[in-house]
Amino acid sequence: MKTRLTELLDIEHPVMLAGMGGVSYSQLVAAVSEAGGIGTFGAAPMRPGQLDEEIEMVKKLTTKPFGVDLLTAVPGQLERDVESIIRGGARIFVAGLGVPREIVDVLHQNNILVGSMCGKVRHAIAAVASGCDFVVAQGTEGGGHTGTVATMALVPQVVDAVGDKVPVVAAGGLFDGRGLAASLALGADGVWMGTRFIATPEAHAPRAYKETLVALPEDGTVISRAYTGKTCRVVRTDWTNHFEEHPEELKKFPEQAFESAKAGANHMGASPDVEVDPKREFMPCGQGVGAITELTPAGDIVRQVVAEAERVIAAMQRVRV
Ligand SMILES: Cc1cc2nc3c(=O)[nH]c(=O)nc-3n(C[C@H](O)[C@H](O)[C@H](O)COP(=O)(O)O)c2cc1C
Repeated sequence: MKTRLTELLDIEHPVMLAGMGGVSYSQLVAAVSEAGGIGTFGAAPMRPGQLDEEIEMVKKLTTKPFGVDLLTAVPGQLERDVESIIRGGARIFVAGLGVPREIVDVLHQNNILVGSMCGKVRHAIAAVASGCDFVVAQGTEGGGHTGTVATMALVPQVVDAVGDKVPVVAAGGLFDGRGLAASLALGADGVWMGTRFIATPEAHAPRAYKETLVALPEDGTVISRAYTGKTCRVVRTDWTNHFEEHPEELKKFPEQAFESAKAGANHMGASPDVEVDPKREFMPCGQGVGAITELTPAGDIVRQVVAEAERVIAAMQRVRV
């Protein structure tokens, strides 16, 4: 399946592993890239030096291209990690919260393509104006920090705004080949999937987090500031319920993240062997979760998504026009 995205990134399939902080580490990144998609590190919670180590591990597991995503919210982190990204030979960099023009220029000088996460049309226009090579339009259904506009409404509007200049990638609530086919129908050039890839043996996530996703129905998530201080779609827990009743206790980003970590309710970035309490834990999760019934190797997910999308596109011939 060839699209502008596969051509731009020189990959086989238009399937991107979302750069999920705490979850998208070397095993998962390598598995998605090796299957012909592109794996993207979620480097935001990594300690200094950890991204270098993780990149070294990925290069032992695959020779295929990979990327790095950063939230760019922590002062100094972007500058530090951009050096690792260049040294490590990443093909793409994705900015979770916007990216300054100077950084885009430095990355381009080093042949690294730059993408930007967008929850609104104006974010996409600003990203393209600052030189980004592609944009990811993430609807509110998506896990993690998220906006208010739904994927179905957002993607075609972003395509109309910037699709003539750069490829648009759809994200938020997508978990299978129907979602890929639908995204292509909306004018996108590929998908960026997060939650589906958490329920894999390769994901860097505690056992209880993966088990929770397998059991959770589609309405088991909530948008809450309870874990980080920013609006984040997560599994609804006693911790989110408490702050729904006591919003006056919420701190701002990033203080609320320190609060939830101190209280033992946020192990983002910790070893996946850590025991967490799923009734309180920070578990970012999208609304596609109800469709996940088992852990599936990440490479199989990539292959199944593409095969199903091809079947769906072929089956569309049943509609007479
Ligand atoms: C556990 C988790 C962590 C995430 N961390 C980040 C992050 O660090 N940077 C970022 O740009 N997006 C992050 N996201 C959002 C994803 O990049 C992606 O847009 C989202 O997962 C797509 O929706 P889906 O989960 O329904 O597939 C995160 C999502 C999850 C589920």
